[in-house]
This record gives sequence, C-alpha cells and structure tokens, in this order.
Amino acid sequence: MEKEISHEIHCGFSKELLEEHYARYPAVHENKIKEIEARLLKADTVLANTTYCPLRSLKMEHTHALNSVKLHKCFFKNITQGAATQPSLEMLGMLERVFGSPQEWEKQFFALAMCARGWVVLGFDLEDGTLRNYFSDSHAEGVWSVFPLLVLDVFEHAYCTAFPSRSDYVREFLRRVDWAEVSRRLHAAMNMYKSK
Ligand SMILES: [Fe+2]
Repeated sequence: MEKEISHEIHCGFSKELLEEHYARYPAVHENKIKEIEARLLKADTVLANTTYCPLRSLKMEHTHALNSVKLHKCFFKNITQGAATQPSLEMLGMLERVFGSPQEWEKQFFALAMCARGWVVLGFDLEDGTLRNYFSDSHAEGVWSVFPLLVLDVFEHAYCTAFPSRSDYVREFLRRVDWAEVSRRLHAAMNMYKSK
C-alpha cells in the first residue's frame, strides 16, 4: 500500500487527473456563466433588494463562476508536465526584495496552502507594484487590482483522490511549478504597472 501511495505522489499531477478536474469544475462553470449572463439580461431591476432579489443572486453566482474559471485556468497553466523550469532573474529579485528570499516566500506560501480552504495566490498588485501572497476560502474572494502570478487550488477536490495528504499535494505542486509561465506573468504585470 505504501508503495502504491508513493507512486501516486510521484505522478499525482497526471494529465488524466487535471483533465478530470477541468471537466468537473471550470468547464461546468463556463457553461453556467453563459446561462447566468443570458438571465441577467432579463433580470428584474425594479425590485432590487439587499436581502434577496433575482438580480442579486445572479450576480453573486456570476462572480463565483467567473472567478472559478479564471483561477482554474491560471492554476492549470502554471503546472508543468515536462521538465522543471526556473524563475526569471526578475522573479527571483522580487521574491528576495519582498520576502527576504525565495525560500522565505515558499515557506509562507506553503503555510497558507495548509490553512486556506480554496485558493492560494502569489499576486502582483498593479496599484502599488508589490508582490504578496493571498488566500481565499471561496471563488468569490480576492483583492481587486491584483494580477495573479502563481495560483494553487487547495479545495479538497483538487487533491484528495490522488494524494495521501494536503501537504504531499502542496509539496508536489511546488516541485511542478512552471516558473517560465509565472515569470512571464510577472513581466506582463510589471509592464502594465510601469505604463500607468
Ligand atoms: Fe478546482
């Protein structure tokens, strides 16, 4: 049994697992976005009410579904299926300036992954040009103006069928980060920040 588990850990981010994850969550939410947006066009705007009204409920689920799709897309794209890639010098320099070292950044990111219920995100704030780690317990939380660089799904559906524990999952994720993709996002975010 132990051997089987360690094999699962080794290939935990298999193509099959990621495809099943995509089909169960963001793909379903993508279809719901279309349905919600069609309903929003016809939703009653006269009876708007802070306790309940169809418009309010639709907008809440709209945000939930939109963020789920966006965060899942970033998450899948920042996992490498091939050889490990390295952070750019720009990325390493920022991690060092903000967190003291890439290792200190990773320590905090790992700890957040152990206490979040939904997502952990390393993000670049387009308003102040700072890197921060963020976490959220649901799809509908987050800080506006933050450009996601590295996204990790820690909902139980992301790991409980393929990893023996959350910590094994997070460790394997950190070994599989596509740093080339994350560094490309940082570069794009820094260009946006500089062009303000
Ligand atoms: Fe997910």
